[in-house]
Amino acid sequence: MIPIAKPLIGQEEKDAVMKVLDSGMMASGPKVREFEEAFAAANGVKHAIATASGTTALHAAMLCAGVGRGDEVITTAFTFIATPNSILMCGAKPVLADIDPRTFNMDPLKIEARITPKTGAILPVHLYGQPADMDAILKIADRHGLKVIGDACQAHGSAYKGKKVGGLSHAECFSMYPTKNMTSSEGGMITTDDGGLADMARSVINHGRGQLALGTYDHVRLGYNYRTTDIAAAIGLEQLKKLGGFNKRRRENAAYLDDALEGVKGVEVPFVLGGAEHVYHQYTIRVEDRASLQARLRENGIGFGVYYPKAVHEYVHLTQYGHDDLKEAEHAGREALSLPVHPSLTEEDLSKIAGTIREWAEKQ
Ligand SMILES: Cc1ncc(COP(=O)(O)O)c(C=O)c1O
Repeated sequence: MIPIAKPLIGQEEKDAVMKVLDSGMMASGPKVREFEEAFAAANGVKHAIATASGTTALHAAMLCAGVGRGDEVITTAFTFIATPNSILMCGAKPVLADIDPRTFNMDPLKIEARITPKTGAILPVHLYGQPADMDAILKIADRHGLKVIGDACQAHGSAYKGKKVGGLSHAECFSMYPTKNMTSSEGGMITTDDGGLADMARSVINHGRGQLALGTYDHVRLGYNYRTTDIAAAIGLEQLKKLGGFNKRRRENAAYLDDALEGVKGVEVPFVLGGAEHVYHQYTIRVEDRASLQARLRENGIGFGVYYPKAVHEYVHLTQYGHDDLKEAEHAGREALSLPVHPSLTEEDLSKIAGTIREWAEKQ
């Protein structure tokens, strides 16, 4: 079986975890700080704040950007459920914009019409590892004096016009879940150049403690326990060192599949936006007859994923946010199919994936 994802944990991660366990410091401690500093440096930003997950990073970052009850946040209609859920967690309303069918990312042309006096922020997602169309999005945000908070949960190491994803907007949020391009087991990260946002985020994720009183009982706001651990940070630090190599392999694997699948009837290979450095968290093709290709892949022991089977407003708790102009997101939910692209694939695996799809297409 060729799996759709495979975390790569080496001896370095195991040794680092054992050191933390031996140190007796298992909660947030020196390893978390070291992980934050290394992650900030890798993204060319001043601050990184480690969190318990990508979802908690998004919730905390938006709270710190001032998003609250009654606000509206404009986001994509095609993403993992945690993106709109994090808006709901702030007491705000997700306002959905349709996607560019080529990239699956939010279409900047669909944003401006959705801005109202209640708009609190714009939340683009860099889906599948490809940065959103940030020049256009930031221009709109500037014109309306809005903050942009990015969901980079699938985009570690990617870049846009030479700038690392962590520095693309006011704050960017990452997930360290095991299937991501790098992992810390569970975990997340907020990156920003805004010192005020960073200070507030450190408080929000730590029960609302005051900055001068970390570890004490001086609570200055509503906060949460959204911290991560030194155990997770030790894994994350080792993975961060390997991220460049992992992403290189992903991009090579994607190039192989691009070549092998280009022109295959019924299959559309991923489109890369000018200026975007795609890191292929997922290699997602479009297939009209998805069910029949899924059956063929299954028969041949090839893993796949449907990210995602529905547009955001097609989930039961989000139907009220639907409207007429979300057709591309709905369409993507019927056609998107992700193939294995992770760094552990062999040339034989890649050849089998491409060969199976070509044979399937010939019989269509
Ligand atoms: C686009 C997107 N947003 C948010 C999240 C949430 O991250 P986590 O699962 O770490 O909470 C994920 C991760 O699965 C994601 O892919």
